[in-house]
Amino acid sequence: MSRYLLISRSAEYETRLRRLLRSKLEALPGEYLAFGPDETLAQLRGSPRVALLGPLLNFAESKAIASALQERHPGIGLIVVREQRSDLEDWVDGMAIHAVLSPEATDQTTVDLISRLEEWLVSHGKLTPVREEPEEEQSQAEPDADVTGLGEFGLGAIDDSIALESTASEGDSDAEDEPADTLILPAPLDEHVRTEVIAVVAPKGGQGKTTTAINLATGLAEVAPNSVVLVDADVQFGDIAHALNLDPHYSLADVASAGDDEMALKALFSHHEDDFFVVPAPPSPELADDIDARALGSMLRNLSTMFRYVVVDTTPGLGEHALAALENATDGVFVTNMTVPSLRALRKEFELLLDLDILPSNRHIVMNFMDKSSGLLQKDAEEIMGAKVDVVVPRSGAVVFASNQGVPVIHHDVRDPAAKALRELVQRIEPSAAPSRRRIHRKTRTP
Ligand SMILES: Nc1ncnc2c1ncn2[C@@H]1O[C@H](COP(=O)(O)OP(=O)(O)OP(=O)(O)O)[C@@H](O)[C@H]1O
Ligand SMILES: [Mg+2]
Repeated sequence: MSRYLLISRSAEYETRLRRLLRSKLEALPGEYLAFGPDETLAQLRGSPRVALLGPLLNFAESKAIASALQERHPGIGLIVVREQRSDLEDWVDGMAIHAVLSPEATDQTTVDLISRLEEWLVSHGKLTPVREEPEEEQSQAEPDADVTGLGEFGLGAIDDSIALESTASEGDSDAEDEPADTLILPAPLDEHVRTEVIAVVAPKGGQGKTTTAINLATGLAEVAPNSVVLVDADVQFGDIAHALNLDPHYSLADVASAGDDEMALKALFSHHEDDFFVVPAPPSPELADDIDARALGSMLRNLSTMFRYVVVDTTPGLGEHALAALENATDGVFVTNMTVPSLRALRKEFELLLDLDILPSNRHIVMNFMDKSSGLLQKDAEEIMGAKVDVVVPRSGAVVFASNQGVPVIHHDVRDPAAKALRELVQRIEPSAAPSRRRIHRKTRTP
């Protein structure tokens, strides 16, 4: 039984989609739209779960058919098949669509998007699960030999957030020369959902803030796919984009100056394949001068209305940007190593934040680089710091290895003790997060 619908004016695209989706696809020629959405949908035999509109449909007809589909098939997933042009925002704004797909996207990207959207709709209770009917023959998806049909991807929830995303930026070498071809829309926040801003800070450099922030965002995104944004507020020397193998088009400088226009903001985020977004630091330190701490604070407040979790990596110490992050944070993650100067500095940091009345109400202390050769015991460290340690992350070669590969360690080496400890931190913030996850195989950075 067909469960995907294509309404388009391109016979070529229809042939391609038929090859990919086979009997799961029902296609209607766009010419029907001239008679209005009711007449068009009267031709339908099946009950579509995901509809692709385009290529070659205009805005008015796409909008009319999108709303008719939503009315008749509540919960349906809608993908517009169209190039990203300058008026794309009007399309996204004007229709309750889930994603925009380039007609030039690879077979893999196309099938992947449809599959992930359907999975997301099921996981969010918008569609009921379907039992997979065995296909008589294998799907003909080429050239991606891995694509054997929908339902076999198991890629988790849909990227239901917006990203002008190039598959090349996700380290997919097959797609390296592709244009940005998928616009993924934001996971709508449920009404009354509690959103959190988590500032990751340390009084001294090199303690593991960035490592902690990256893995925290990755772990939270498993629970809230595409409702997590990782902000690199280490304004001068932030390196999250590089650490995650991203090739961003926009940075914090653009996002902080975009004001509170939600649509404009969403188009500036970079998307990571582990289902979270990144606001990278500016590409060069001079650009940091343009980022005013107040603008950063107001950007964080805006982001907290759009994302369930905003994770902020910061500059070492309590400069104006780190203070702006803490001022707007619900949670502070304080990272230190096992050396006396760092522990003492953290104690002073707590005292200052208390004086300023901006110590976030939820506090998590991460003792990083734990190793027995430091000569200090945890209880000594707690005494110097004047606070209890919440999570102990051992020194681990896997952290360095993962970072060199451009992959979060909690996904790269799930059994590593440091990865497990970082997961404990994720669980402190989101208790429903899984304590472990099976290994994810993926391509990593080529040296
Ligand atoms: N538990 C660990 N075991 C081994 N290496 C680690 C560990 N945590 C972090 N590192 C490594 O230490 C280095 C510094 O970590 P990271 O960049 O996260 O620190 P940071 O506090 O963000 O530094 P900066 O202040 O320069 O921004 C990185 O090379 C990272 O891979
Ligand atoms: Mg850092």
